[in-house]
Amino acid sequence: MLFDTVALPGRRSVRLYCEDALPGLPLRLGRARADVVVTSPPYNLGVRYRSYQDDRPREEYLRWTGSLRDSVGRVLAPNGSFFLNVGGPPSDPWLPWDVAREVARGFVLQNVLHWVKSIAVDRAAAGRSSGVRSDLALGHYKPVNSARYVHGAQEYIFHFTRRGDVPLDRLAIGVPYGDKSNVRRWHGAAADLRCRGNTWFLPYPTIRFRARDRPHPATFPPELPEWCVRLHGRSRTRLVVDPFVGIGSSAVAAARLDVSFVGFDLDAEYLRVAARRVREELSRERRRPRKRTSSGRRPVRSTGAAIPRRGATTR
Ligand SMILES: C[S@@+](CC[C@H](N)C(=O)[O-])C[C@H]1O[C@@H](n2cnc3c(N)ncnc32)[C@H](O)[C@@H]1O
Repeated sequence: MLFDTVALPGRRSVRLYCEDALPGLPLRLGRARADVVVTSPPYNLGVRYRSYQDDRPREEYLRWTGSLRDSVGRVLAPNGSFFLNVGGPPSDPWLPWDVAREVARGFVLQNVLHWVKSIAVDRAAAGRSSGVRSDLALGHYKPVNSARYVHGAQEYIFHFTRRGDVPLDRLAIGVPYGDKSNVRRWHGAAADLRCRGNTWFLPYPTIRFRARDRPHPATFPPELPEWCVRLHGRSRTRLVVDPFVGIGSSAVAAARLDVSFVGFDLDAEYLRVAARRVREELSRERRRPRKRTSSGRRPVRSTGAAIPRRGATTR
């Protein structure tokens, strides 16, 4: 059932449904098509969600992943992008790839992106010209108590499309060249912007009170879906969908980017937080002084990933 609707500027909206997304996707979208589906499903790791039991037999879980693929297949636009975030514990490194294989029965894997939650940068490796003055350890480090496994600081974002040929707006999330001589050397580099590549450093924002600031056991930061939409191409995106919206990180990204959104979750409490976060994001946007483009549309705000202060928690 429809849980809440938040109006965005223009005739756009964020719609949140409290129901199973698999039948819900084709039912609620009707004839509409999603330009971007961006989501993080349950990983079947026994995470303690409020409503969903996250511990099925592996075969059953993979069959369910196949049903998710089919539901997304019914609503994704012909040139749409399906960004699927999956991680696995160090003891089960095949899990994300098993999921990706299942989804690849209906889509082409166009890109594999790595969501890097923390990284160490040695000053010597960064080089003198980088401006890095000391060894850095960025992002939150969640120790793994194991002699066998190293700390897992990365998750996958599998980028699926129908035929593997969707053009992307790579410079929308581009980064300036480190070596400025490249600006002249490489054809098309005139704007001093290069493709960010497939390693996305996106630490969690620092929070002070988990129960208030992030009351969900498995979120991604809003910048992750925001970068996915911008990479797909904001101007080509009219509708973003997240079948597993949780506390609404992707809905917040859609509100930030001024694009219509449809999200699903089984849990009303998560959706209540999601709706609150979207409204908070909109009132922050309203307070922010902004320029208008010549077309009168609000420009898309560029968000860099903030380097978290000590004490940030991980997913
Ligand atoms: C990994 S979490 C997503 C978190 C979200 N990305 C965020 O940042 O808040 C997965 C969510 O899927 C929900 N869920 C599980 N099965 C579902 C289903 N069949 N339909 C809709 N939601 C479901 C769970 O309640 C959980 O909140």
